[in-house]
Amino acid sequence: MSDDLSFRRPGPSTVGVHGARRTRVPGEPVVPPIVQSSTFFWGKPSDGELLYSRYGNNPNQEMLARKLAELEGTDAAIGLASGMAATAMTLLALTKSGDHVVASSMLYGTTRALLRDELPRRGVSTTFVDPDTVRGWRAAVRPNTRVILLETPTNPAVRILDPRPIAALARERGLTFLVDATFATPVNLRPVALGVDAVIHSATKYLGGHSDLVAGVVCGPHGLIEEVGRVARLYGPALDPHAAWLLDRGLRTLSARVQRHNENGLVLARWFSDQPAVRRVIYPGLEDHPDHGFAKEHMDGFGGMLAVVLEGGGVAADRFMRSLELAIAAPSLGGVETLVSQPRYTSHIGMSARELASQGIDDGFVRISVGIEDVRDLMADFQQALEVARG
Ligand SMILES: Cc1ncc(COP(=O)(O)O)c(C=O)c1O
Repeated sequence: MSDDLSFRRPGPSTVGVHGARRTRVPGEPVVPPIVQSSTFFWGKPSDGELLYSRYGNNPNQEMLARKLAELEGTDAAIGLASGMAATAMTLLALTKSGDHVVASSMLYGTTRALLRDELPRRGVSTTFVDPDTVRGWRAAVRPNTRVILLETPTNPAVRILDPRPIAALARERGLTFLVDATFATPVNLRPVALGVDAVIHSATKYLGGHSDLVAGVVCGPHGLIEEVGRVARLYGPALDPHAAWLLDRGLRTLSARVQRHNENGLVLARWFSDQPAVRRVIYPGLEDHPDHGFAKEHMDGFGGMLAVVLEGGGVAADRFMRSLELAIAAPSLGGVETLVSQPRYTSHIGMSARELASQGIDDGFVRISVGIEDVRDLMADFQQALEVARG
């Protein structure tokens, strides 16, 4: 097979490092500077576009947006102050009072709360559906439905839901199909190629990658991103130029980091499967995972998120967490360091045992965001913590 290198689209590692291609100017810095300025010299309309950092047109915000769009394969993108700002601004941009959203029941807890408790105050209602059945999605669509929202992979049960049948439904009914693909990153999954209209990320996680910033992004068609930008100017969750610069720096190593997360994730998932103190391991790279087939075919890696269900339930999980010496007990995910948390205390706090079980969170469930450390060191730490957990 011939491979015409001159017509190759740059890959995600190249885009992460260089961003969108453009002409270089002699003397320009290799590393773009932080333009830490809220406002810019401008006196009258003939001076051109009015730049103001809340508007999202600070040079750092603009450069970041171009790189993100290139990575996701969309027309445009926008960086915002958090993942929740990205979700909230997109939903506000797409709905008005009287509209309806159909959303997966398997969502990050705060996204669920936004839809369930906050958007009704703006006159927007939501029906939550079991994301596994296309019939459920179809039955939930009403004449006033405007948006379908899916999270894949899911937090924390790492289900990898196939967006294609939902995309077909959205197209047929003229709805906008949004996917939160935070856990996957554009390195492992490109939802737009599977029919999704716009992709949301909490860039606080893998895109930033160092647990040192809070940011969110939306990547999608020009019209939608313009509308998200318009709403964001009104509500005000702009991404600070320094955070935009840090996020751009994170993107330069995204591909290399994610490859290492993928490798460590698979090695650890297999290792945990052999441990008697572990009742169940949930990782899409394992053959017994319900979505292994889809993930194998459509993802470039299984990711760094895995979950273990410990023998001995919640008591054992508490002991396990307390005994960790290398991995860090902390919420959040996607950083270079391994983070371990119990969703019943964090993202899914306040849910009944039945609700937790419906989200795949069994008694003794521990979520692990596998970092990029030497995997043998992680195994040693987990081994001693499992011994303590067994009591
Ligand atoms: C899947 C998912 N989406 C969105 C968010 C919200 O992101 P942020 O904390 O950056 O607002 C999170 C946070 O954990 C998440 O896990």
